[in-house]
Amino acid sequence: MPHSLGCIWVVVVLWMTLSTPVTAQYLTDAQVSVVGQRLAEGASHSWEYGTRSEVLLEYNASSFSVLSSSVVPPPQQIPPNLAGALSDVFSITRAIVANRSISNGNVTGPQPLIQDSSAGDPASIGVAVLLANWTGQSASDGLDYAGAARDQLQFLFQNAPKTPDGAISHRLDQVQLWSDSVYMVPPFLAYYGVTTENLTLLQEAYTQISLYRTYLRDTNANNLWKHIQLGSYGTDNGHWSTGNAWAAAGMIRVLGTIQRSRFAVSLQQQQEDLASWIQEIHGGMYRYQDPSGLFHNYADNKSTFLDASSTALLASTVYRLSLLWGVHTYLPEAESARKRLSSLNGTSGLLHFTRDGWLTPVTDPYAYPFQGQDSPEGEAFVISMQAAWRDWAAAGAVGANVAPRTIDMTVNAYVLSALIVVFDIILCSVQM
Ligand SMILES: *[C@@H]1O[C@H](CO)[C@@H](O)[C@H](O)[C@H]1NC(C)=O
Ligand SMILES: *[C@@H]1O[C@H](CO)[C@@H](O)[C@H](O)[C@H]1NC(C)=O
Ligand SMILES: *[C@@H]1O[C@H](CO)[C@@H](O)[C@H](O)[C@H]1NC(C)=O
Ligand SMILES: *[C@@H]1O[C@H](CO)[C@@H](O)[C@H](O)[C@H]1NC(C)=O
Ligand SMILES: *[C@@H]1O[C@H](CO)[C@@H](O)[C@H](O)[C@H]1NC(C)=O
Ligand SMILES: *[C@@H]1O[C@H](CO)[C@@H](O)[C@H](O)[C@H]1NC(C)=O
Ligand SMILES: *[C@@H]1O[C@H](CO)[C@@H](O)[C@H](O)[C@H]1NC(C)=O
Repeated sequence: MPHSLGCIWVVVVLWMTLSTPVTAQYLTDAQVSVVGQRLAEGASHSWEYGTRSEVLLEYNASSFSVLSSSVVPPPQQIPPNLAGALSDVFSITRAIVANRSISNGNVTGPQPLIQDSSAGDPASIGVAVLLANWTGQSASDGLDYAGAARDQLQFLFQNAPKTPDGAISHRLDQVQLWSDSVYMVPPFLAYYGVTTENLTLLQEAYTQISLYRTYLRDTNANNLWKHIQLGSYGTDNGHWSTGNAWAAAGMIRVLGTIQRSRFAVSLQQQQEDLASWIQEIHGGMYRYQDPSGLFHNYADNKSTFLDASSTALLASTVYRLSLLWGVHTYLPEAESARKRLSSLNGTSGLLHFTRDGWLTPVTDPYAYPFQGQDSPEGEAFVISMQAAWRDWAAAGAVGANVAPRTIDMTVNAYVLSALIVVFDIILCSVQM
């Protein structure tokens, strides 16, 4: 008897040890919260404020984001259960709008939401500013959110340089188009269109994306987007992974804004184009996904370092495209990326996060050819990925098993451990 009890004990311990997954399946709320704290501390540039406001909506107040199944624009009355989450977003817009005149040297009229050498980046805060207006935040703080949004819009139309065919420059000092700008400007134009019921602005959001695609898409490189075109300096013909992800992420936001608004019927073809342009980027990018699940900093250049930032942001667009448009093609790739970024580092911490909760390895957000550390945008991309995955999983994880091109290591670990335990039980019964 004692001998067989001991044997069963061994079986139990073996099962518990072996069935501990080699990869965690997802980041916990607590882990994402730490990532959110690092983002809050680290965000100090225009596009970081903007991206932070967007991903906080997606993660903690999803019915007020443009990527949920809720209508756009959302109700003007804030439900009590979302008051806390939205106050995080409105504390960003309050600080920006309260300070914009000082930041811009007391100019009046057309001006960006915050001073910047980029024409496009400050507009990324615009969606949250429009939401602050829409939900009546000025009643409690007296700030003119509608005026701030209008000045930002007119600054884009009147002050920002443009190509002859009308693409709004990403830089102020010269006409230059960056793939990043697709995330910064068109989602603001589209949201402005729905909050002011202006179809022309929704069309303009689409037109800007279409123009950027004309200049940046590289038909000699599987439709990957070049990073930076035009201008007398600073061109980057490389296919920067984060830039491709910014472009796809901007497009999915415009798609979500149109699709959930009352203008959806009038803009059917535009939605179809956006969905197909997002897939075009997925197709270009995922063929270069490293076996680890990550992208190289320049997707098609293996001698550049691996970058977890772009990996997270592009994965978020795959889940969203599945939810919004029923396209599930690259879910196995997104799942492989997400699981990798959620995986444990032996028994201590996470493989792709420092002890403090910074994503790693990442591109330097202030010097994109180089590897950096402590990237606020990278933190935002993780939150966006996690929110998108959570919503997709809650909706039934449709498409999870479409033609899997990657082997799920976690499932393999379970199967292996189960086999070993069965083998052990047989050994035990033989000994008894
Ligand atoms: C989401 O909201 C919860 C509750 O307020 C908070 O603890 C958490 O930090 C928020 N998450 C992020 C990413 O900010
Ligand atoms: C306001 O803008 C000024 C000038 O750009 C800047 O130095 C200051 O840090 C800003 N204050 C806040 C609270 O953002
Ligand atoms: C803007 O106005 C504030 C308050 O009146 C003043 O302190 C500041 O010097 C002004 N800035 C500029 C650049 O004129
Ligand atoms: C501001 O919100 C009001 C509704 O409270 C809306 O009618 C108006 O169009 C909004 N303005 C902008 C610029 O979004
Ligand atoms: C829509 O927005 C554009 C650009 O700001 C503006 O010129 C036009 O007058 C607006 N249309 C309506 C109906 O408000
Ligand atoms: C690939 O990246 C390496 C390292 O940054 C660089 O030296 C090389 O020129 C790149 N190759 C191409 C084809 O861009
Ligand atoms: C993973 O663990 C190894 C060994 O303990 C450590 O050297 C490494 O820094 C850890 N990686 C991260 C991202 O914390």
